[in-house]
Amino acid sequence: MDIKDAKFMEGFIRLTADAFRKGWHERNGGNLTYRIPAEEIAEVKNSLHQVDEWLPIGNSVPELAGEYFLVTGSGKYMRNVELCPEKNIAVILVDDKGENYGIVWGLTDGGRPTSELPTHLGNHELKKRLTAGRNRVIYHAHPTNLIALTFVLPLNDKEFTRELWEMATEDPVIFPEGLGVVPWMVPGGKAIADASTKLMEKYRVVVWAHHGLFVCGDDFDEAFGLMDTVEKAAEICVKVRSMGGKKQTITRENFLDLAKEFHIDLNEALLD
Ligand code: 13P
Ligand code: ZN
Repeated sequence: MDIKDAKFMEGFIRLTADAFRKGWHERNGGNLTYRIPAEEIAEVKNSLHQVDEWLPIGNSVPELAGEYFLVTGSGKYMRNVELCPEKNIAVILVDDKGENYGIVWGLTDGGRPTSELPTHLGNHELKKRLTAGRNRVIYHAHPTNLIALTFVLPLNDKEFTRELWEMATEDPVIFPEGLGVVPWMVPGGKAIADASTKLMEKYRVVVWAHHGLFVCGDDFDEAFGLMDTVEKAAEICVKVRSMGGKKQTITRENFLDLAKEFHIDLNEALLD
C-alpha cells in the first residue's frame, strides 16, 4: 500500500488540519509524533527507503530501539501537512541503541524531524512502558488561553490543576490524575525533555510555562480530545477572570461526589 493511503496517515493528517483550524498552530508552532505498530509498517514497507544518514536524537531511548515513528518536520507548518504530507512530515526509524534516528520516508525537500524530538521520544518511551504499549501519540501545541493562564496562575501542579478542574464538571473525569507544570525552560533540548518526562510519570498532560502544552494518547482522538478539553477549560478560566472572577464554584465535596459516582481515580492530593 502507498503510505499516503494508510489509515494512520489519514488520522495523523486529520489531527494536524483540525488543530490548525482551532488556532493552536501559528507558523511552525507545535509538533506531533505517532509510534507506528509493526503491522502498520509492514503494510507500507514498499513506500520506505533505506536510511541515508543516522543523526542523534538528543535523548537516550533504548526501549524504542527499532521502532518507527511518523513525525512532523522542524520548521514545517501544521496547515501545510494536509496539502503535501511528503514535504512536511517524515517516517523515522530509531537505531538499535535508541540514540540515533534515520529518515525512511518524507521530508522530500530536506529538513529534520521536530526540534522537540527529545521530549517526544522520551515521553513515548515512558508511556510505552507504563501503558503496556497502548500509548502511541505524543502531541504538542500552542493553545492561546492555556498559554495566557501561565502568566496568571501559580506555576505548580496543584493550583493549576484545581483551577482547570473547576472550569467544567467533566474535566476531572477526563484528566483525573491532574496536570504537571514545567517552569519556563529553553525548548528543544534534553533538559526540558527530562523535566517533561518526569511529570509524564504521573500525568497525561504537561504545561510548558509561557509556551504550550504536551499531551499523550492511545490514538489521535484521545490526544486531540485531551488538548481540546484542557484548552477549553483554560478559555472558560480566562472568561471567568475577565468577568470579575468566580462568585461560586465546584467545591471539594462536589469533586469527591463526582469521583464516586463516575468511578474515577481522582488525584485527591491536588484537591485542597
Ligand atoms: P518545530 O518546528 O521544530 O517542531 O518546533 C515548533 C515548536 O513548537 C517548538 O516547541
Ligand atoms: Zn512549541
